[in-house]
Amino acid sequence: MKTFTLRNGVSIPAPGFGTYSRNYDFTEEAIANALKTGYRHFDTATLYRDEDLIGSAIQRSGIPRSELFLTTKVWKTDMGYDRTLRSFEASCKKLQTDYLDLLLIHWPVPEYGPVNDPCRPEDAQDTPWEVLCRDTWRAMEKLYEEGAVRAIGVSNFLPHHLMRLSADAGVLPMVDQIEFHPGYTQQYTVDYCRARGIVVEAWRPMAKQFLANEPLLLELAAQYERSAAQICIRFALQSGVLPLPSSKNPARMAENFNIFDFELSEYDMSRLSTLPQMAWSGQHPDRKRAPEG
Ligand SMILES: NC(=O)c1ccc[n+]([C@@H]2O[C@H](COP(=O)([O-])OP(=O)(O)OC[C@H]3O[C@@H](n4cnc5c(N)ncnc54)[C@H](OP(=O)(O)O)[C@@H]3O)[C@@H](O)[C@H]2O)c1
Repeated sequence: MKTFTLRNGVSIPAPGFGTYSRNYDFTEEAIANALKTGYRHFDTATLYRDEDLIGSAIQRSGIPRSELFLTTKVWKTDMGYDRTLRSFEASCKKLQTDYLDLLLIHWPVPEYGPVNDPCRPEDAQDTPWEVLCRDTWRAMEKLYEEGAVRAIGVSNFLPHHLMRLSADAGVLPMVDQIEFHPGYTQQYTVDYCRARGIVVEAWRPMAKQFLANEPLLLELAAQYERSAAQICIRFALQSGVLPLPSSKNPARMAENFNIFDFELSEYDMSRLSTLPQMAWSGQHPDRKRAPEG
C-alpha cells in the first residue's frame, strides 16, 4: 500500500476501495473480503446505502478503527448547515464509529451530475448552489475543528466551484474526488488542485469496463503482463491521483490491490494521458447527464 499525505498531515492509504453499486447490491461479505485482501481505506456515501454493512463488516473483522480510513459524503438533499450535521451523525451511526477520516460534499450544484436523483433539500428550492455549498462547508469546518472528522473536502468540484467555496472558507478543501481514468483525466482540474495542495482522488479509475477493448490498454496489458484494470490503477497512482477501484469479486479485488510490482514508463504514461476523450460517465457538475461511454 502507498499513502497520500494531506495538507494537515493526515495520510490516506492507496488504493482505496470504492463501494458504489448502481444496483445498491454491495454485501457485507464483499466488504469483509476487501478487508481480508488488505484494503484499509473505504469510500462510501449516504447515496450508496451501504454505510451500515461497511460498519458491520468492520466490527466483525476486529481490525482496530485507528487502522482504517473511512470516507463518506454529504448528499445533495442533505446540503445546508443543520442537515449536514444530521447527515454526519447518521453516517457515523451506520458506520459504527464516532469520527470520520474524510467527509466530502458529493456534488457542487444540486441540479446536475447524476440523473434521476431527488436534487435539493425541500426547504431550499431557490437557494443558489454557492450558498448551499457555503453552509454545508461551515458545518464541515465545525466538525473538523471539533475533531469529529480528520479531514474535509469535496467531490466533482471544478476549479470555479473550488474558487467560490474557498472565497468564504476558513479551512480550504483538502481533497477533490473526481472522475479520472485514461480517456478522461480532467487535467485542468488536477493541475489546479495540485498547485493548491488539494489531493485528487480518482472515481471510476478503470472506467468500469468501458476501456477493456481499447487497443492501447490491450497493448500495454500484454507488454507489462498485467490486466487492463491494473494498468489503469497504476496510471492514476503515477499521475499523483489516489485511485478508488471497486469490485465485488475477491479475485478482482486482489488484482486491483496488487499494483506495486511494476511501473509504467514515461512514454506509456504520455500515451495513456493523451488518449482522446473516451469512456466518460456522462456526468458533469454543470450539465444534465450525457450518454455514458
Ligand atoms: N464521487 C462520486 O461522484 C463518485 C461517482 C462514482 C463512483 N465513485 C466512487 O468510485 C468508486 C469506483 O468507481 P466505479 O465503481 O464507478 O468504477 P470502477 O471502479 O472503475 O469499475 C468498477 C467495475 O469494474 C469491474 N471490475 C473491477 N475490477 C475489475 C478487474 N480487475 N477487471 C475487470 N473488471 C473489473 C467491477 O465489476 P466486479 O464487481 O464484477 O468486479 C465493476 O463493474 C465507486 O465505488 C465509488 O466509491 C464516486
